[in-house]
Amino acid sequence: MSEIKRIGVLTSGGDCAGLNTAIRAITFGALEKGWEVYGIHNATDGLFVRPMWYQKLSMSDFNFPFATLGGTMLGTNNSGNPHLLTREDGTREELTDNELIQRFTDGVKELGLSALVVIGGDGSMAIVSKYCKAAGISMIGIPKTMDNDAPGTDLAIGFQTARSVVTDALDKLDTTATSHNRVMVVEVMGRGAGHLALEAAISGFADVALIPEIPYTYEGLVNRLRQGIAQGRKHALVVVAEGIKTPEGKHCYALNGRTFSGVSSWVAEKLSADGFNVRANVLGHIQRAGSPVAGDRILASSFAVRAIELLAEGKNNRVVIYKDGHVQDKDLDEILKIANTPVDPQGEMVKIARGLGIYIGEN
Ligand code: F6P
Repeated sequence: MSEIKRIGVLTSGGDCAGLNTAIRAITFGALEKGWEVYGIHNATDGLFVRPMWYQKLSMSDFNFPFATLGGTMLGTNNSGNPHLLTREDGTREELTDNELIQRFTDGVKELGLSALVVIGGDGSMAIVSKYCKAAGISMIGIPKTMDNDAPGTDLAIGFQTARSVVTDALDKLDTTATSHNRVMVVEVMGRGAGHLALEAAISGFADVALIPEIPYTYEGLVNRLRQGIAQGRKHALVVVAEGIKTPEGKHCYALNGRTFSGVSSWVAEKLSADGFNVRANVLGHIQRAGSPVAGDRILASSFAVRAIELLAEGKNNRVVIYKDGHVQDKDLDEILKIANTPVDPQGEMVKIARGLGIYIGEN
């Protein structure tokens, strides 16, 4: 095992709260070992473009307020096209697979990197690990996604903050809903997973949570609202995960046909036609923002410390995970065999929601 002198760190895929905390923790952990850290900009693009786009990281880069901010100080990329690169000056360039491998290999050699820490989804890790193998350097992955459906881990960076943001939004919407005796339909991110919608519905005291994993009926939803009215509740919070389908089996998309948006309007229109005083709210990218909550800061820091330990032990191609209350690690190839983890319809959160009388479907 050659001795590590310098490592790289990058963020890849959609941003979320806690990424700067993870970058900070990687930097502080590496400095503790006497290693240098280079932050690569715009996911792997920073290593592909010429001149390369990176910065040497030191403790002073994390003076207030950077580590406490959402987003990623290194920039990221989720364009879906790994061949299309953005240079530091904003101009673009498209490369072939072979050119990408060559640029990556030359880039890590020129920067003197022995390893790369990838803070991203499993898709990003799979792609970067291919380049790292070709370049002969180690890679460790740290999972992040506000959707919390990353394979192999009970928690990913960003989820706990997103859950707090949605809870806070529900608290705010509750006051206006109560004042107007309205039904507020609130659309929550999560792509094909309902973790965020379900858990925020519990913490935000919602009446309904519709999630992609559990079939619902429009009649079931209406019955729940009428039952609330009969029991003296004059307003309601209806949380809908952006990835649910209409009863006709259709997803609602906006923009490019692959971004979920608009299912709350569909639900609100139906309710309005049935005489409910209703408004729809799409919370959108605000859910990815804000200062990371303590839980995300601790998770990101713990993941980073384990990643540095793994590199110090000479490990390669591992993903740091949080399982059964402990930080652990698993081979990336094993992680890639596991499917994304949706809400378990028989799981604890579903039982809690049902125990509270929240309508979540299946009748
Ligand atoms: O995967 C994270 C996520 O925020 C999803 O919940 C959402 O559907 C998607 O990303 C939005 O992606 P974009 O930032 O490309 O609009």
